[in-house]
Amino acid sequence: DWTPEHTLETLIEEIRAKVGRDRVMLAVSGGVDSSTLALLLSRAVGDKLTAIFVDHGLLRQGERHEVEAALRPLGDGFRVVDAAEQFLTALKGVSDPEEKRRVVGREFIRVFEAEARKLSQEGYRWLAQGTLYPDVIESAGGEGAANIKSHHNVGGLPPDLKFELLEPFRYLFKDEVRELALLLGLPEHIRMRHPFPGPGLAIRILGEVTREKLDILRRADDIFISALRDWNLYDSVAQALAVLTPVQSVGVVGDERSYGYVLGLRAVSTVDFMTADWARLPWEFLDEVARKITRQVPEVGRVVYDITSKPPATIEWE
Ligand code: XMP
Repeated sequence: DWTPEHTLETLIEEIRAKVGRDRVMLAVSGGVDSSTLALLLSRAVGDKLTAIFVDHGLLRQGERHEVEAALRPLGDGFRVVDAAEQFLTALKGVSDPEEKRRVVGREFIRVFEAEARKLSQEGYRWLAQGTLYPDVIESAGGEGAANIKSHHNVGGLPPDLKFELLEPFRYLFKDEVRELALLLGLPEHIRMRHPFPGPGLAIRILGEVTREKLDILRRADDIFISALRDWNLYDSVAQALAVLTPVQSVGVVGDERSYGYVLGLRAVSTVDFMTADWARLPWEFLDEVARKITRQVPEVGRVVYDITSKPPATIEWE
């Protein structure tokens, strides 16, 4: 009969049988799937695993730290590649959302390929991916989310880089991965984390991405997300985010007119992310968040809450 414990044991045996004495590499995104896979592989193959985390500089406050802490069991098998400078340079002057996605995807592949090449020369043979059953179905269909997530599906490495693909989760659903995560000791905040797009904060800054804007958005987003946790509302919404618009609106600070950015907050309820309803967060909560943001992030002059459902609006603003 099926229990998470049984699945865990079976997966570990299967991985060991398949991989033997060979070495395995994995790209970790910080999400629940790849983080769980990292812990699973670490149990199965120990120090034959190297997990690569690309910090593209488009992460939220504290995110890199949380991943580092969660994957401490990997020891030296966990490597962070600090590529923030490279991504920011590549994004200079880019304001079209699809172009931003292409740039981030392209740079991600560049960074990952370089790491894969090094490991391949060290004799690594397996490339592990956290592909889930629904991803397998979608890829078979050829459209949709598989395409959206294309830059995380790094199977398409150049032909001279020969890795065998290891996909231990290809018959699992998200809920089952979350159960495994619990058994493997993945911290709660990563296990139950909302989805976060691969291009990260780049698509939550409308217009050009700059270091200054990233810093503003990061602080505001952190206030919003932390408040959701403090008010026990985090798990009641499927996704929540802050968006920095290029609009400067007038305000008054002391006796003077001031100009500050308009910041959008969005929270949605959804099961499949194909349609979504805006979340009816309590007014007292929104009031507190708006006050905190304008007080602690003075670059923001006005906070608005997005009350548009999907369709017609998407969950992200771009
Ligand atoms: P939309 O904005 O299309 O979002 O309603 C639906 C879900 O997809 C996520 N999303 C992305 N994820 N790369 C990703 O990995 C992307 O470019 C991307 N765009 C949107 C979004 O966060 C939501 O969960």
